[in-house]
This record gives sequence, C-alpha cells and structure tokens, in this order.
Amino acid sequence: MEQTPLEPAASAAAALARGDLVGLPTETVYGLGADATQPEAVAKIYAAKGRPHFNPLISHVASLEAAEALGVFSPLARKMAHAFWPGPLSLVVPRQRDCAVCDLACAGLDTLALRVPSHPLMQEVLRAFGKPVAAPSANISGRPSPTTADHVRAEFGDKLALVLDGGPSAVGLESAVVAVSGDQATLLRLGGLTREALEAVVGPLLTADASAKAAPASPGMILRHYAPQAPVRLNATSAQPGEVMIGFGSGYEGAAFNLSPTGELTEAAANLFAMLRAADALSPAAIVIAPVPKTGLGEAIADRLARAADRSC
Ligand code: TXA
Ligand code: MG
Repeated sequence: MEQTPLEPAASAAAALARGDLVGLPTETVYGLGADATQPEAVAKIYAAKGRPHFNPLISHVASLEAAEALGVFSPLARKMAHAFWPGPLSLVVPRQRDCAVCDLACAGLDTLALRVPSHPLMQEVLRAFGKPVAAPSANISGRPSPTTADHVRAEFGDKLALVLDGGPSAVGLESAVVAVSGDQATLLRLGGLTREALEAVVGPLLTADASAKAAPASPGMILRHYAPQAPVRLNATSAQPGEVMIGFGSGYEGAAFNLSPTGELTEAAANLFAMLRAADALSPAAIVIAPVPKTGLGEAIADRLARAADRSC
C-alpha cells in the first residue's frame, strides 16, 4: 500500500526526531536545525558548520510556555518575551535545573539562548516536533548567513536530510541577542530588532564588551564573520574596474546591486546577505559598499558589514 506523503512541516519534524539535520526557514535567516535534546544530533551541527565548540547555539521553541520549561525567566525576561515574541529576539537566561537542552548545545554554560520565531512554517515545525530545536544560521562558520532555501542548499549540498523552503527571510538579519539576569538586560548582539525598539520596552540596555576577543560575553561575537571570499571595502561611493558595487539609496544607478534604491533600512537588511553572496559569486577583485546610515536597523547592518570587511582573524 502506498504511504501518503507527509506535509513538509511533518517531514521536517520526523527528520529532527531521527537526529538528522534540517534546513529551516525563519523570519531572520535560515537555520541549520537539530533536536536540541540529542547530543549526537547537535554534534552534527558543529561538524557541518565547522563551528567552534565553545560557541553555544540558540534553542527555538513554539511559545513562551515552552521556553519557560527550559530557562528561568525573571519578570524582565518575561516582559521582553511578551513584547517581542514571536520575533527576532533571542533571550539568554539561566538554564532550568532539569533543562532538556543538552550541554553541547549550550557549550557547557549555565545559561541558554531561547527564541520563539514567527515564521509560520517554522512555527508549524516546532509545534509538530514538540521539543526544542537548536539552530544556528545555516552557513559555514564565518560566511554570510543564508536568507533563501537555495543559499542553504548551496552551502551544505546533500549533507542535510531536507531543506524546508519558506521563501526569502523577511527580516534578513539574525535575531538581537539579549542576556537577562534578574532586572539587568545586556545587549550581546545587535540584530533584526533595533536598539530603540528594545529600549522602548526595557529602558537603557547594557552593552557587552564584544571587543574583548579573548572572552566575549557572547562567544559568537568574534570579529571576522559574515564574510564573502572577496575583500570588502566599506563607505565607498564608486567601484574601480574589476570591483562590484553595492549601492544604497539614490545615486548608484550604475551599480550592480542596490540594498535599497529608496534608501529604506528594512529593505536593505532583507537584501544584505543575498547581495553579498550574489556579488561574491561574480568573483570580483573587491566588493565595495556604499555608506549606510547607522540609525535604527542600520546599526546592525553596520555591525555585519564591519565583520564582513575585517581581515584581522
Ligand atoms: O536569527 C537568529 O538568531 C538565527 C536563526 C536561525 O534563529 N540564529 C543564529 O544563530 O543567528 P547563531 O548560532 O548564528 O548565533 C547565536 C548567537 C551566537 O553569537 C552565540 O554565541 C550566542 O548567540 N549565544 C548562544 N547562546 C548563548 C549563551 N548562553 N550566552 C551568550 N551568548 C549565547
Ligand atoms: Mg551565525
């Protein structure tokens, strides 16, 4: 008798339960997902990405209720979750004593990062699976994050059981990562939620010293990251022969790419990683990028661009 094919979300949940790796769409960027409770499955993430084991993963769940079974939420953490979940915010909180997320996913720390994503297909997967899904961005460590299913396939080929196609990621930047300890909130990573939006809810945020490369408060904040193969030159207004220009706003009519011809930062964020990848695919002498204002989402865009351009490590 022929079996009825599973719905995509159910297939993904079944693959996760088997301990396989799955490419998953989220509103920020695509994730490389595995069952966060199975160390063998989580180990496959580190191996596939070439990710250092000291860099912990974000566990994704369907709801705040599911998150509270894993992490300890102070009133401030709960307030932030209510304000921004589902959405592009990861909260780093103390682990519950009986936290089901394996030590490997937390890199041995006594805190863990939790996120409730809003992408409807990802929500379906999380509800069908019923357990936390560890998922870093689905790129080889140090490369630009993927914002389409094709990016994920290009990066990992047939190493994945399946890649669920949920269309281009609407936000295009990874989640903002905020550590909450009691009534203190520290911004560990800028992301697809602006500092202003966060501070409107929680007041002034503390900022982690990510420049302390030896032991940054968020182990993922090593400088070189998001980097294409080609060198990247920032704040440029024109390209030399052999270089590829990524413009922003008006005045870049001859440029190969423009993050947002109308100068909108949300559009620029959504286009950023895809354009870095597309520019890189042309094997240029350099990718040159127009100035982008550092206000609102521009702050996180500037952070990603600075890391893409860094050649120091
Ligand atoms: O939007 C996103 O956050 C995407 C999608 C797939 O959800 N995921 C993502 O994961 O960007 P990843 O692994 O690329 O980045 C996770 C960041 C890293 O900088 C990591 O060091 C930090 O979160 N992190 C995770 N757990 C932590 C912890 N317990 N304490 C401090 N930082 C933590
Ligand atoms: Mg990443």
